[in-house]
Amino acid sequence: MGFIPRQPATSLLIARQDAAVRDTFSQRDRAAIERTTQEVGRYIFARLASQHPTPLERRWWDDRIMSWAMQDERVKAQMFRFVDVLPMLDTSQAVVEHLHEYLGTVAGALPRAARLGLSLAPPNTLAGRALALAARRNVLGQARRFIAGATVHETLAAAMRERKQRGDIALDLLGEAVTSDDEADRYQQAYLSLLSEAAPVVAAWPEVPQVDRGLFAPVPRLNVSLKLTALDPRFSGVDPAGAIRRVGSRLRPLLRAASEQGAFVNVDMESYDKKSATLAVFQSILDEAEFRGVTNVGIVTQAYLRDSEADLRQLCAWAERRGAPVWVRLVKGAYWDYETIHARSVGWPVPVFQEKRETDANFERLTELLILKHQSLRPAIASHNVRSLAHAIAVARQIGLPTGGLELQMLYGMADPIKQALVDLGYRVRIYMPFGELIPGMAYLVRRLLENTSNDSFLRASFLEDAPPEELLMNPLEPQPPASPPAQFPAHPPAPTAPPRPPLTQFKNEPPVDFAIPTERDALLAALADARAGFGQRYPLVIGGERVDTADHLNSRDPSHTATVVGATASATAADADRAVASARAALPAWSALSAHDRAEHLRAAARQMRRRRSELTAWIIYESGKGWIEADADVAEAIDFCDYYALGAEWMAAPPHIDAPGEENRLEYLPRGVAAIIAPWNFPLAILTGMTAAALVTGNTAIMKPAEQTSIIAAKLMEIWEEAQIPPGVVNYLPGRGEVVGARLVEHPQVALIAFTGSREVGLAINRRAAEVSGAGAPVVKHVIAEMGGKNAIIIDDDADLDEAVLGVLKSAFGYQGQKCSACSRAVVLHGVYDAFVNRLVGAARSLELGPAD
Ligand code: FAD
Ligand code: 2OP
Repeated sequence: MGFIPRQPATSLLIARQDAAVRDTFSQRDRAAIERTTQEVGRYIFARLASQHPTPLERRWWDDRIMSWAMQDERVKAQMFRFVDVLPMLDTSQAVVEHLHEYLGTVAGALPRAARLGLSLAPPNTLAGRALALAARRNVLGQARRFIAGATVHETLAAAMRERKQRGDIALDLLGEAVTSDDEADRYQQAYLSLLSEAAPVVAAWPEVPQVDRGLFAPVPRLNVSLKLTALDPRFSGVDPAGAIRRVGSRLRPLLRAASEQGAFVNVDMESYDKKSATLAVFQSILDEAEFRGVTNVGIVTQAYLRDSEADLRQLCAWAERRGAPVWVRLVKGAYWDYETIHARSVGWPVPVFQEKRETDANFERLTELLILKHQSLRPAIASHNVRSLAHAIAVARQIGLPTGGLELQMLYGMADPIKQALVDLGYRVRIYMPFGELIPGMAYLVRRLLENTSNDSFLRASFLEDAPPEELLMNPLEPQPPASPPAQFPAHPPAPTAPPRPPLTQFKNEPPVDFAIPTERDALLAALADARAGFGQRYPLVIGGERVDTADHLNSRDPSHTATVVGATASATAADADRAVASARAALPAWSALSAHDRAEHLRAAARQMRRRRSELTAWIIYESGKGWIEADADVAEAIDFCDYYALGAEWMAAPPHIDAPGEENRLEYLPRGVAAIIAPWNFPLAILTGMTAAALVTGNTAIMKPAEQTSIIAAKLMEIWEEAQIPPGVVNYLPGRGEVVGARLVEHPQVALIAFTGSREVGLAINRRAAEVSGAGAPVVKHVIAEMGGKNAIIIDDDADLDEAVLGVLKSAFGYQGQKCSACSRAVVLHGVYDAFVNRLVGAARSLELGPAD
């Protein structure tokens, strides 16, 4: 507690002039500055320990908003986004909706009570209204701590209270970054009114010598701060000349009025992109003959900027040239988060230091420079950090600058007991008092919330986390203790909350059945017998889970024995198609609301059922589509593959990669389109129908299966499988029928959003055309058509090809699957040198193919 403020001797002042010339201190001076810094710092801390309440009282940090905010960077970001938007929300419903929207995304990180509170207070309920009221009250409470008043009158009353404590004031009308010339004019007028309204009031205040008498000249009682972005909607560093022209026309009348009223005008410093224009405007206007002698003006240097020392030196040289001093408010800077995020997002070098102690150390370097250059640049040191302030006092003492020659500045609502300790040391402490409406003041409020909840905040460390004074007073140039707190913005954004993407390589093809194994052959033979025993059955439509028979029906024949009817399905009418669409529409909300994982699980269940019924499905494919055993089995295996692969794919798509850029929160989400009409061919009767349907279902669409007339019984088996997989009624509907009736109706139906078709080019193109025509005016959706159509596939036989392989390959591709593959080889392009040999062998091999019944 042994610090006693001493007044400097004149000889000391002269003795220190050499340091000013060199603009740096000797090692001995530095050691003395450090000793005094520690002395002053300990003195202030001792004063604080004896005082209550603490600066930015503990109660403030204990507030729900603050304590939630500080638990987790994501909660903090969401919380402050909410604070930012709150003044714009008119109704309690909007407040609660925004709370749900913003905090819902970080619900896992919220305390239990908060989660519960949110879940119990939906919008439009009594509890919701109570929650909205509490949220509003809390945010207004935060605002009132940092904003001195809504009107000039209220603010002058608050200013009077500061003066009673021997504190000085700077008035700042909240608002920045105007969007129109009208708004800029209004700000200019508001400042002109502030000057004319406040000047007579402050003139009538009784004198406070510590505040009103400075070392250099009498101190204006009225001191206003303004931001140049409030005076020019197009203010930008890209066009300094334009900024000088436009701001100049609004700033000159202000400077004139301030001179007339004997007021001081300080220009605040904003984000980095505005810095060069702010400096250019300030210097250019003050270089004009009318203003060249004005000294009651000031500007800001932000020590967190890497180039701040160069700027300060340039300002100093300019002021020396100009021949009249200006004030410089040295701050660390209020836009650290923004500067860091913005620069990273555009890929520019980050202009602010990334370690707090670099900012602190630079602040001390600039404090020394500024105090040493006080003849040209009058020093105003703005901080709430006891170390930074004590260091400034120590530097001033080292060069013998009297207390009246150094101004200290702090923000309204912050660190009041520190202010008082400095006032008691004899310094002029100016309180920056923002006032005005909450909406234009939100940016200011959010800056205060961000800086006070920052991990690196001095006030937080000191008053919330009770860091010991010796730690808080450490010289930032000295090595720091190893366990420094994590930086606010790690080099990589925090991990996404979405589950990790399952690698698609997890997928494994379903192995084919090995019919060389006797038991496998026996199993299929038994299944064929069972299928034969089931010939002649009738298969109804399935709409919304209901079996629906129809007057008309479709006979399905065995292509190997065309006289054999293997069964008959119902044949849907256009009215049935309408009912199926209605049922698929009705099932859509609940189905699409399931998670991708839940839907994927239904597909996996379907795959399990297909494995269980594998021989039966193979047998029906053999009988209904005439495929050989191996190829019929492969069709089932491919259907299983579609279920498994699309299940995995949907989960993969639902966990998209992290796509946030710094400062952005992006979400990539795939949304279902609606009702899907699946129009399938006969050539792969199970696999293609399963694939198109499974893809639609797993992505949240509901579906209507319209199978090919020739293979509608296999489709009926698939319908049973979807049901066994617990897919709810209406999510898949089974609609066999004639293409020109049901297919046409589905394509035209206004509620069908997606058409997945595999088949001939002729039909595919017709569907495409029709879907486009009916998607015209008045249709609720533009139909999306996925049409896989046949093509001509060529195989090239090079003249060094192994002809054994080439012949077998072409043969299999062209005639395997009874030549029914969409990718079947329909052209062989053979190089001249092997042409004759290849063609002869291919013809021979083709002749030896045996054609006959598939069973
Ligand atoms: P400390 O807690 O010691 O320092 C906090 C500051 O350190 C942060 O604000 C940030 O700038 C910096 N910082 C935080 N984390 C890191 C990190 N990881 N790496 C590097 N640096 C970091 N600021 C302006 O930009 N323009 C102005 O016009 C302006 N006017 C002001 C007027 C007054 C009267 C006052 C008191 C301050 C003003 N400020 C201005 C500064 C300001 O808004 C903050 O209050 C100030 O930066 C807080 O610093 P501190 O020394 O009180 O606190
Ligand atoms: C700000 O507006 C105080 O100028 C500083 O954040």
